[in-house]
Amino acid sequence: MTRTLAALLGTTIAASTLTAAQAQELNLYSSRHYDTDERLYSDFTDLTGITINRIEGDADELIARLAAEGANSPADIFLTVDTSRLQRAADMGLLQPVESDILAERIPANLRDDDNLWFGFSQRARIIFYDMNDVPNPPQTYADLADPAYEGMVCSRSSTNVYSQTLMAAMIEHLGQDAARDWAAGLVANFARDPQGGDTDQLRGLVSGECDISISNTYYFARALRTDVDGLSAEQRANIGWVFPDQGGNGAHVNLSGGGMAAHAPNHDAAVAFLEYLASDQAQSYFAAGNDEYPVVPGVEIAASVQELGEFEADDVSLAAVAANLPSAQQIFNEVGWE
Ligand code: FE2
Repeated sequence: MTRTLAALLGTTIAASTLTAAQAQELNLYSSRHYDTDERLYSDFTDLTGITINRIEGDADELIARLAAEGANSPADIFLTVDTSRLQRAADMGLLQPVESDILAERIPANLRDDDNLWFGFSQRARIIFYDMNDVPNPPQTYADLADPAYEGMVCSRSSTNVYSQTLMAAMIEHLGQDAARDWAAGLVANFARDPQGGDTDQLRGLVSGECDISISNTYYFARALRTDVDGLSAEQRANIGWVFPDQGGNGAHVNLSGGGMAAHAPNHDAAVAFLEYLASDQAQSYFAAGNDEYPVVPGVEIAASVQELGEFEADDVSLAAVAANLPSAQQIFNEVGWE
């Protein structure tokens, strides 16, 4: 068992933890559900002999379930999307620290919690898309989105959405509370319509003409490149351009899919082995490609659909530090009337 996982992880890394793994099953609470995840899980079972029992559901429902189950929870691992949810689970005491040399070595420090309560396993950038016909000089930075030159042009999700919240928290980390508030007020003044819909709807707004500039996560557009997405056919998206913001500055804001070990995990060693497995090259490929995301481990191959977006510099700010600003982000949303 140890030898196979060590081989998967690469010869330079010792699979120390799995040596002690006795458990033969793992209970996974996950808000992910992608086709490639089947292969991800079956490969883990093939490598380790550990069977995975999956409980899938809405992220917020799983957090509520973990909280309600308390010390009786059978959950070993919680997997979800967005730093804000990972941090919320941590703040609620639903996760426990995992000390692992493999995770510390493989996952960049800014993409995991300082206390090892959660780890990012794939990342997505939140970037600017625009109508190339209507916007000859698109915004090049997040700050530009608040430029009065773009009045009435920008479409965004609501402030109740976790992606908006984490982006706002990152702006606070870089600008400070006051300048971040000014930025948010300027952005709200540039809204083309009341915040509404999902990320794909922001892109569809470019097609319909309701929006000239939209903020969306990279994987929604990459997904449209890979497979049929209603309203985003090759013809429909022909005039959509994109900008990775703040290149040469802080870099494009990224957010995470990730997870951690449940606070009362009955299968502790199996849970560590699973988290370490998710950081292996092979699992990184599956995990990221399943949702057209970027791996977190440097050097792992990026899916073809995602490569089409081009290379970019990512903001390397600590997402744990960003997450600490989430309450301030909510305050700013209220102050500037970002619905
Ligand atoms: Fe999403």
